[in-house]
Amino acid sequence: MSVRALRNIMVTGGAGFIGSNFIRYLFSRPDFEGRIVNVDKLTYAGNPRSLEDIAGDYGGGRYALERVDICDTAGIVRIMEGWGIDTIVHFAAESHVDRSILGPREFVSTNIVGTFSLLEAARAVWKDRDDVLFHHVSTDEVYGSLGSDGFFLEETAYDPRSPYSASKASSDHLVRAYHHTYALAVTLSNCSNNYGPYQFPEKLIPLMILNMLEGRTLPVYGNGENIRDWLYVADHASAIWTILRSAEPGSTYNVGGENEWKNLRLVEELCGIVARHTGAAPERYRSLLRFVADRPGHDRRYAVSCARIRKELGWAPRVTFEEGLDSTVAWYLSHMDWVDSVRTGEYRRWIDLNYERRGG
Ligand code: NAD
Ligand code: DAU
Repeated sequence: MSVRALRNIMVTGGAGFIGSNFIRYLFSRPDFEGRIVNVDKLTYAGNPRSLEDIAGDYGGGRYALERVDICDTAGIVRIMEGWGIDTIVHFAAESHVDRSILGPREFVSTNIVGTFSLLEAARAVWKDRDDVLFHHVSTDEVYGSLGSDGFFLEETAYDPRSPYSASKASSDHLVRAYHHTYALAVTLSNCSNNYGPYQFPEKLIPLMILNMLEGRTLPVYGNGENIRDWLYVADHASAIWTILRSAEPGSTYNVGGENEWKNLRLVEELCGIVARHTGAAPERYRSLLRFVADRPGHDRRYAVSCARIRKELGWAPRVTFEEGLDSTVAWYLSHMDWVDSVRTGEYRRWIDLNYERRGG
């Protein structure tokens, strides 16, 4: 298996949750000697503070943040030419399902039109070069919803069911179309639910941790029986690194934690972990649990098979859920300044919007 060199990388959405963890992961690798330009529009979900240390350590030439919208093809072309970009790792997206139900327009604009604009920029700058790579970061939600058994495979037919997953499915199709039609060198990954540091507290795990600390209710949608597969974010970063280095152009890999949890069980478990850290009784947090109106069209179960990436590229998740949740709780408790910084500006925790929707 030949190993691809990674020299000048454009990471889109690098000020968000997974993108910032990915950039931190690359710079932590002794065998990574390249440069990274982080292209981010800095929406409510993008926070340059998430990479303050990286900017301090590598800002002299190996790292820079450019505040640019991926829909701005000319802006992307300028950055690609200026940096001699040979690799694009595309994270930028509107990523929250509930927000997509309230306001789908931004999802179509960034996730579909934005991906199209990036592909056009890559095609214009790279022409027919074959020493380049466009990696598209996608989601297992494109496959729809599972019953109580079975797993999503790379061959599973797409069946997206929310505006978010439909927009991600469209972007996946565009990326594959540019490979087949224009021979653009692309790879794709479809990953399950990530958790870890720097995740915006609109998503289940950080939302619950912060609500516990503030004594606010823990809103469990529907009956709490929906199932998600959880992966620690650094494991997702290592999967993408592995794909970038070794995957064949045109290939797709599913990535997941092989770690399924019912939402209610997960929140109860989290109550115990937070209690261990704060010294409070777990019952104090568990008493905050409330079943609330379900998410419209709520997908029942996601579970991906990682058999292909395990077999072909030798990747496997490393961090156990116990370790990952424990260090995530510890991280939030010791980074309340970061939490405060994302609560300002355009950002509002999802629960506030949700209460408005329910008239609460
Ligand atoms: P996030 O919402 O935390 O971050 C998204 C980032 O993209 C933000 O920094 C935001 O400012 C930026 N952005 C948004 N619109 C932009 C635009 N038009 N131009 C430039 N930048 C823009 O998202 P995340 O959770 O880190 O997810 C990253 C990617 O991974 C997304 O493509 C998402 O679909 C995918 N994904 C996420 C998960 C998960 O569990 N979070 C799982 C699988 C796949
Ligand atoms: O599967 C990958 C996807 O995982 C990514 O593509 C998305 O970007 C990411 O946001 C995530 O989507 P989910 O909708 O699964 O994540 P979320 O954290 O919003 O919700 C996880 C589960 O918890 C889901 O079944 C809904 C439920 N939930 C969520 C919130 C925010 C609650 O019960 N209460 C809540 O307050």
